[in-house]
Amino acid sequence: MGSITPWPRILFLIFIALSAFYFHQSSADGTEADQPVALYVNASESSAKKIPKTLFGIFFEVSLISTLEEINHAGAGGLWAELVSNRGFEAGGPNVPSNIDPWSFIGNESSVIVSTDRSSSFERNKIALRMEVLCGEGSKACPAGGVGIYNPGFWGMNIEQGKTYKLVFYVRSSGPINLSVSLTGSTGSPTLATTSIVASEVSNWTKMEATLQVKGSDAKARLQLTTTRKGVIWFDQVSLMPTDTYKGHGFRNDLFAMLKDLKPGFMRFPGGCFVEGDWLRNAFRWKETIGPWEERPGHFGDVWHYWTDDGFGHFEFLQLAEDLGTAPIWVFNNGVSHNDEVETSSVLPFIQEILDGLEFARGDAHSKWGSVRAALGHPEPFDLKYVAVGNEDCGKKYYLGNYLRFYNAIKRAYPDIKIISNCDGSSKPLDHPADFYDYHIYSSASTVFGTAQKFDKAPRSGPKAFVSEYAVTGDDAGKGSLIAAIAEAGFLIGLEKNCDAVEMASYAPLFVNTNDRTWNPDAIVFDSSKVYGTPSYWMQHFFRESNGATLLDSSLRSNLENSLIASAITWKDSDSRKHLRIKVVNFGSNNVTLQISVDGLEVNSLQSSGSTKVVLTSGNPKDENSFQTPNKIVPIKSQLDEVSEEMDVVVSPHSLTSIDLLINSNPIRTMGSNSVDVSSY
Ligand code: AHR
Repeated sequence: MGSITPWPRILFLIFIALSAFYFHQSSADGTEADQPVALYVNASESSAKKIPKTLFGIFFEVSLISTLEEINHAGAGGLWAELVSNRGFEAGGPNVPSNIDPWSFIGNESSVIVSTDRSSSFERNKIALRMEVLCGEGSKACPAGGVGIYNPGFWGMNIEQGKTYKLVFYVRSSGPINLSVSLTGSTGSPTLATTSIVASEVSNWTKMEATLQVKGSDAKARLQLTTTRKGVIWFDQVSLMPTDTYKGHGFRNDLFAMLKDLKPGFMRFPGGCFVEGDWLRNAFRWKETIGPWEERPGHFGDVWHYWTDDGFGHFEFLQLAEDLGTAPIWVFNNGVSHNDEVETSSVLPFIQEILDGLEFARGDAHSKWGSVRAALGHPEPFDLKYVAVGNEDCGKKYYLGNYLRFYNAIKRAYPDIKIISNCDGSSKPLDHPADFYDYHIYSSASTVFGTAQKFDKAPRSGPKAFVSEYAVTGDDAGKGSLIAAIAEAGFLIGLEKNCDAVEMASYAPLFVNTNDRTWNPDAIVFDSSKVYGTPSYWMQHFFRESNGATLLDSSLRSNLENSLIASAITWKDSDSRKHLRIKVVNFGSNNVTLQISVDGLEVNSLQSSGSTKVVLTSGNPKDENSFQTPNKIVPIKSQLDEVSEEMDVVVSPHSLTSIDLLINSNPIRTMGSNSVDVSSY
């Protein structure tokens, strides 16, 4: 990198043209040469645009507890730190026999019989587990370690030495009980923690609690409940939570930190198709997901084919958004599923359910639903200002009719709430009122990169775009490749440049438990104890500072428009220091020399010290991160030495580069320079 003498612009352009000619000649000869490309940045405020504070956010499609298949276990077995899978034995739904998977038993058929019945004390989840112990007292002695049941969690529980775990379960028996509760390795040994639960009278359902201190670590541990006493014992709602969740709110710390690091401008939840259901009877209903966890009925998420216990419910989502310091965007079911719909004339109960949900989130602590929230420990309202009416439902028979009913009812009760329509308004204006229209794109790398200009011609008046799901999918993406991230970065630069037409954008899906890769690729990969970001996750870091920043006018002079895109912003760091950030995506396979020319700054206001270049790239466009090499593709930062208004930066093939130039608000006058005022820029 070096600086270019400030020649007259005309000479500079001739130089660029000649260089481009030379490049083509030399490429044709098979010799390697960098393609020079001029990037002009107008740093004056007059042509700048304010970027919405919400432009780059996250979409959390929940996945709770599964017995069959699930979309990635993003929630339970993921961000939601509950370690017991199928804690209420309800996974078969309200039927007997239920599906107790992944619970299993310790002993054999002559010593223990395990079944389910509908004897739970919880009215809305009636299944309990019945364990009949045949050994002990008067019969054949039980095996040394006893007989019982165990739960392996979500492909193993991550139990860590020195930490404590809170166990809660409900039990009843006609006789006294003497239970051993332990955390062990995946085969039942070694024992990492153990405690005894002894009671003489539990003929009625009784809540038991214990804190387990752990003396060893195992990422694939299991929870065991065993006994050597003959008799019949019923179990229900068995929960094991680490005590060190984020603020005690139940979120796994390492996964929470990954989200927090993205500095999301919003959080869309809880889906996706999860909100719709394949059938309405299986759609997410917020009222069934609040209150004491033991009493929540859970439901069968039929799109991804798994039972959810709804421990991560409406309240927890709002709490998560608050903990992340981001704006919640609630997507609700509007009476439309994948396969059935409620006629508009009958949609009123669905509307009332959503109005109640809004009151739960925002209502005064003395209001009907606000008081329920307050009783759950959150007297202050949540800052819910956005709702989406359905997901991908535009065009369904009753969508528009239902949408209008919801729109009018919500605007009447909460005029400040912004409402998102499922219908795409990017090509022609919507035929109905909305604050935003939803836009989803999942496609190949070249298509996603080529969609960067999609919003150049989108309407500037009326509803703005909410690109609530974007990702490169298919062969290009693998399990999260570099080229997917590069293409997505190009797309996001296109959105950034159209920030007067696009208000929000989020990658999808966010999380995948590596043991349940139902949807591929995803931004964050984890198992019970480890986590890494795919290149698409790290790519989003380059856009963190864009929220609320200023978009500058910039243009590339190049014949590489099919493989190069760039934008320029100014943003302020936490010390109120101002930066000029140029982001450039090189989607092609040659080096490019970016010849940057910045106009509109005070003389000498760019400062070398504190200016950096950050690059996301790798040797092969199909390269991926993995548990073995989690940091193969991560942003690499280096210092920039010779920073000036005219400078060259070499941009690698298949890369995303961020050039961050510190703007000195007190430029030092140098010999021969014009006199300068303290910049107000
Ligand atoms: O993000 C995964 C799925 O993709 C979402 O559930 C749905 O909205 C889309 O089809």
